[in-house]
Amino acid sequence: MAQARYHITTPIYYVNDTPHIGHAYTSLSCDLVARWHRLAGKEVRLLTGTDEHGQKVRKAAVALGEDPQAFTDRISDNFRALVETMHCSPDDFIRTTELRHRQAVQEFWRRLRSRNQIYEGVYSGWYAVRDEAFYEEDETEVGADGIRKARASGAEVEWLEEPSYFFRLSEWQDRLLRLYEENPSFILPPTRRNEVLSFVRGGLRDLSVSRKGLDWGIPVPDDSAHVVYVWLDALVNYLAATGWPDSAQQESYEKWWPADLHMVGKDILRFHAVYWPAFLMAAELPVTHQVFGHGWLLNRGRKMSKSEGNVLRPADLVERYGLDPLRYYLIREVPFGQDGYISHDSLVTRCNAELSNGLGNLAQRSLTMVAKNLGGTAPVAEAASEIVAPLLARTAGHMEEQALHLMAEEVWSEIGAANRFFDEQAPWTLAKEGKQAELAAVLAETLERLRLFAYLLYPIMPTSCRRLLVLLGDPAADTPEGEGSFTFSALETPLPSRQLPAPKPLFARLEEEDEAESKE
Ligand code: MSP
Repeated sequence: MAQARYHITTPIYYVNDTPHIGHAYTSLSCDLVARWHRLAGKEVRLLTGTDEHGQKVRKAAVALGEDPQAFTDRISDNFRALVETMHCSPDDFIRTTELRHRQAVQEFWRRLRSRNQIYEGVYSGWYAVRDEAFYEEDETEVGADGIRKARASGAEVEWLEEPSYFFRLSEWQDRLLRLYEENPSFILPPTRRNEVLSFVRGGLRDLSVSRKGLDWGIPVPDDSAHVVYVWLDALVNYLAATGWPDSAQQESYEKWWPADLHMVGKDILRFHAVYWPAFLMAAELPVTHQVFGHGWLLNRGRKMSKSEGNVLRPADLVERYGLDPLRYYLIREVPFGQDGYISHDSLVTRCNAELSNGLGNLAQRSLTMVAKNLGGTAPVAEAASEIVAPLLARTAGHMEEQALHLMAEEVWSEIGAANRFFDEQAPWTLAKEGKQAELAAVLAETLERLRLFAYLLYPIMPTSCRRLLVLLGDPAADTPEGEGSFTFSALETPLPSRQLPAPKPLFARLEEEDEAESKE
C-alpha cells in the first residue's frame, strides 16, 4: 500500500559521551532513509534527540563536578551540533528532560499500571550501568581481571537488591512471537530477527522498570521514591514527540503514530524489538512497523567507544575528507546491517575511483562538450532515459529493506555503464564529423542519466547532488531543502532546453598518502 507519510526515528543518544562517528553513522543512515522517502513523494518525519536520565549520565556529570541538568544541557548541544556537522535533516529533536517527555512517560506508566501490567516487588540481580541493563547470571562472566561483566557488551555489572516495580513481560511472550510471525519484516535484517526470536522463545522474565533512590530520572507517579527505569523512560520519546498524550495534539499523534521505522544499532535491538512492542501492546497502543538493527563501525577491530579510547570524531573526519565523500563512503563501504571496518586508505581509494573518476568525470566530460560544442545550451532528450524506470524500481526495492549499500551499489554500477556508453558513442568524433543530431542525442541522454544519478544519490550526498543539478540546469536545485519539493516523479519528463552554467569539477581528488594514519 502506498503510504502518504513516513515516520523514522534515530535512537536518542546518551549524553555521557561526546558524539563519535558511530553515533553519526546511525543518524546518517536515518537521514538517508528520510531524504529518500521525501524524494519518493511522502510527507516525512525524522525524529532524533538525547537520552538524559539514568545512573550512567548522572555518574558522568558527578565525575566532572557538574550539576546533571547543566551537564546534559551542554552535551545535548553537542548532539545538536552533530546534526549540523553531518548535514542531517531532522524534523524534531527531543530531550528526555523536556516537560512534554516527562508527561508522556508518566501517562504511559499510569496506563500500564491501570491495566495491571506493573506490580511491586524486589529486584535482586546484576545491573550494568554502562548498558543501563539488567542481566541474568548466565549472561555474565568473570573475566581474567576478576571483574564480572555482561558477556554481550563487556560492561561491568554490579549486584543490586532493591524494591522495584516490575512490568509483566513474561505474559507477552506469545503475543510477541505472533507479532514477529505475522510481520516478517518487523525485525530486519533477518539474521538479527532470528537472534531476537530465539531470545524470546527462550522465555521472558518480568522486567524491573523502576530504580529506587536515584534522583536523576522521572519520578514514578504516586511513588516518588522511585524513578522510571531509564529504558522505559527513553523508549517513550518516540511517542512523546508525536504529541501524545496531549489532547490538543491528538491530530499529530494520529497522523504520526505508529512510526514506520526505528533505526537502531544491534546493541540496543532487544530493547526496541522485545521490550518496546510489549510495552506498547500492554498499553494498548499501536506498535511501530519495523525495527532495523544495524552493525557497528569498527576502528582497529573494536566498537568505537569512550572506554575503548578509539573514537573518531565526525567533525575531524568531515574537515579532512569533506562531508559528502564521508557520507558516501560510510554508506557504500559497509554492507548495511553488518559490522564494518573503516580506514583512511579505503576511503581515499573509493572516493577517488567512484566520485572523482566515476561520477565527477562523466559530468565534467559531458558538460564540457555541451559548453564547447553546443554553446552551453543543453540538448533536449526525446523521452526519459530507458534506465530511469528500472533503476528507480531496483533502488526502491533495496530501500524497502533498508539495504542502503545495495541502493548505492546499483547507482554506482549504472554510473559505470553510463561512462562506457559515453566512450562507445564517442561524441567527440561525432562533433568532429559534424553529426550534430547524433551528438545532441548522446549528450542529452548522458545529461538525463546524470540527472537520475543526482536524484538517487541526493539522499547520500545532498550538497554535491544539488551542485550537480545546478550544473545540469534542473530547477529542482532551486527548491528549498528538506521539504520533498522535488520528487523522483520529475524524472519521467526530460528537462526542456536551457542554458547551462560553466561546468565545474564536482569532487576534489583526495590525497593518497597520510603519515598520521596509524597502520595498527
Ligand atoms: N540511549 C540509548 C538509546 C535509547 S533509544 C530509546 C543508547 N544511546 S547510545 O548513545 O549509546 O547509542 C546510540 C546509537 O549509537 C546506538 O544505535 C548505537 O548502536 C550507536 N553506536 C554507538 N557506537 C557505535 C559504533 N561504533 N558503530 C555504529 N553504531 C554505534 O544506546
